[in-house]
Amino acid sequence: MDSFSATAARMPALRAEISAHPQRHRILTGERPTGRLHLGHLLGTILERVRLQQAGVETLVVVADYQVITDRDSMGDIVSNVHGVIKDNLAAGLDPERTTIFTHSAVPELNQLMLPFLSLVSEAELHRNPTVKAEAAAAGRALSGLLLTYPVHQAADILFCKGTLVPVGKDNLPHVEIARQIARRFNERYGSVFPEPEGLITAAPELPGLDGRKMSKSYGNAIALGMTADETTAVIRRARTDSERRITYDPERRPGVSALLDTAAACLGTSPAEIADEIGVAGSGALKSLTAAAVNEFLAPLRERRAAIDTRTVSDVLSAGNARARQIAAATLEDVRSAMGMAY
Ligand code: TRP
Repeated sequence: MDSFSATAARMPALRAEISAHPQRHRILTGERPTGRLHLGHLLGTILERVRLQQAGVETLVVVADYQVITDRDSMGDIVSNVHGVIKDNLAAGLDPERTTIFTHSAVPELNQLMLPFLSLVSEAELHRNPTVKAEAAAAGRALSGLLLTYPVHQAADILFCKGTLVPVGKDNLPHVEIARQIARRFNERYGSVFPEPEGLITAAPELPGLDGRKMSKSYGNAIALGMTADETTAVIRRARTDSERRITYDPERRPGVSALLDTAAACLGTSPAEIADEIGVAGSGALKSLTAAAVNEFLAPLRERRAAIDTRTVSDVLSAGNARARQIAAATLEDVRSAMGMAY
C-alpha cells in the first residue's frame, strides 16, 4: 500500500479517536501569505479547521511569511497579504480565544529548530520530495536553498508545538511524512521529545477553478473570499464555457461548464448533475447567473463578518497569537536543548 492509501485507510479510526478525545490532539496548519484566499481554500481546509476547533481540538495556524521567499525575490505586499489571510480565517469562524494565529517571523525559537532538524535529513531525500520537485519546476528558476529545505522548516512549524494532526490535501502528505521522519529520528538519537504527527486528509473534494484547472490566483480562475458580490459575478461571467445549449456535467469534455456546476453545487449542497438537469437547455448564461447567485449567497455571511473586522483587531489577534506561539516554542526548544545535552 502506498503512503496515501495507508493514510486514507486510517482516517475513519483517526476521526473517531479525535471526536472521542479532542483534548489529546493539537492541530497545526497554515497558509503562505502570497495573496488572497479563495473559495477552494475555504471549502478545502478552512472550514475543516473551524469544525475541528468547534469539536474542541486546540488549533494553531501559521501564517508562513518566511515561505513567501522560497520561490521569489521579494516579500510582495506582505502586510496586506498577512492581514487578509487572518481576516479570512476569522470571518470563516476561527475564534482567536481558542486558536493561535501567528507568523514565522515573530517566533525565533521555531526557526531555531531548523538547525538540529537539518542534520536529520539527507540532501537526496530533499531532492526526492515530490512537493519540492513540483514547486521547483513551477518556479521556473534555480532551486534556492530555502525551497530545497522548506519541508524541514515546515516540519519545525508542525513540531514546535508538538502538533499531532496536520489537515492536508493529498498533495501535501509528503510534507507530513518528512515531519514524521524528523520526529522519529530526533527521538531515536536524543530521547523522546516529539509526537509523530499524522496527516488528516480533508474530507471535501478539491474544488476546481472556473476554467476546470486547479483553482489558483495565478491562473486568474479563483473566487477570492475578499471579493465583492459584483466582482464575483464579473469573474463568473468571464469564465470560458462552450456553445452547447444543453448543460451537462462532463469534466473531461466540458471543463468550463463542469467547473461552474461544481462551484454552484458546492455552495448549494447539491450535486452538479442535479443542477445541470435543472438548467437543461437554458445554456451557459443561465448557468452563470445561477452560479453567481449561489456563490454570493453562500459567501454573504462570511463577507459581512469580514468587512466588520478592522486592522486594529487583526493586529491584536496576531500579537496575542505570536506571544502564545513564542511561549510554546521556547518550551519545546528547551526540551530539545536538554535532550541534546546542551545544558551549559
Ligand atoms: N505550505 C502551506 C501552504 O502553501 C503552508 C504551511 C506552512 C503549512 N507551514 C505549514 C501547512 C505546516 C501545514 C503545516 O499553504
